[in-house]
Amino acid sequence: MARTLLVTGASGQLGHLVLEDLLARTSEDTIIALTRSPERLRAAFPSAKRLEIREADFDREDGLAAAFSGADRVLLISTDALDRPGRRLEQHKRAIAAAAAAGATHLVYTSITNPVADSPLPLADDHRRTEEALAASSLGHTILRVGWWLDNYLGALPSALESGALVAAASTGKANFISREDTARAAAAALAAPFEGRRTLNIVGPTPIDHSSLAAAASKAFGKPMAYVAVAGSDKQKALEAFLPPPVVSLLVGFDLAVARGDFEVSSSDFWELTGRAPLSAEAFFAKSAG
Ligand SMILES: NC(=O)c1ccc[n+]([C@@H]2O[C@H](COP(=O)([O-])OP(=O)(O)OC[C@H]3O[C@@H](n4cnc5c(N)ncnc54)[C@H](OP(=O)(O)O)[C@@H]3O)[C@@H](O)[C@H]2O)c1
Repeated sequence: MARTLLVTGASGQLGHLVLEDLLARTSEDTIIALTRSPERLRAAFPSAKRLEIREADFDREDGLAAAFSGADRVLLISTDALDRPGRRLEQHKRAIAAAAAAGATHLVYTSITNPVADSPLPLADDHRRTEEALAASSLGHTILRVGWWLDNYLGALPSALESGALVAAASTGKANFISREDTARAAAAALAAPFEGRRTLNIVGPTPIDHSSLAAAASKAFGKPMAYVAVAGSDKQKALEAFLPPPVVSLLVGFDLAVARGDFEVSSSDFWELTGRAPLSAEAFFAKSAG
């Protein structure tokens, strides 16, 4: 039976990739895309027939009931509202309540690997509390605990390759890095799946690697020598504070410290089982990025 699948945050980079994936599938399902920028999204998908675009802003309660109406299955893409503690969690809670009130049966949420209470990664808290809000709701759900994106390294990579040093406070810790594109594949597959119960999946890369291997993979792909330089968290914090805002510094240092203690070393076949393919390795990701 045809269903109505709803994707939130559809103008974001991840949301865009999810829509591309869903629209490429042969299916009777209707797709609703929520965004704060409907015109921009329509311009990106000018002739998509199965796509209905609606405006929604999770900072505001009004309009959310109409935005979610008719949705059977919802993909809630975690927002990027990290400027004020608590804001993002409130946004997610409003979306969960609106999806349940609209009569949706299932919600897929993009969480993070190991959102434990004592995580050094500040944003883990929102994810853990959003997972708790889902557990307390009436909704069936699929929680996607997504690994750290390889894409996160692309911005700083040119200067790291220039200096020959990938500086991190991750010690010898390993992580199962994944790409944004594979995350989109997994999110689209979970949304389009028939699964109606409650499950938590680890959407992670194929092999745990440390920062020496990460540096070697990027170095090989871009053809420039680069090695991992391990520093203390406090030193990385001081260096980054000179040019980045405090929430971004805590996020980057927090991730390194979480890797150092093993929080991101989680291997799983969930991606393969959900999508029927293997996730990109760091080597393949950087080779693709280098063109
Ligand atoms: N695992 C990782 O390493 C990793 C890395 C980066 C990001 N992430 C997470 O993945 C998400 C998507 O990443 P991305 O690269 O697509 O980021 P992005 O392009 O910056 O997109 C930001 C997302 O937040 C949504 N958003 C922001 N404020 C909102 C509001 N008031 N109401 C509703 N939606 C709101 C945006 O929706 P619209 O603009 O369409 O309204 C958009 O989907 C991020 O928000 C973050 O939670 C994970």
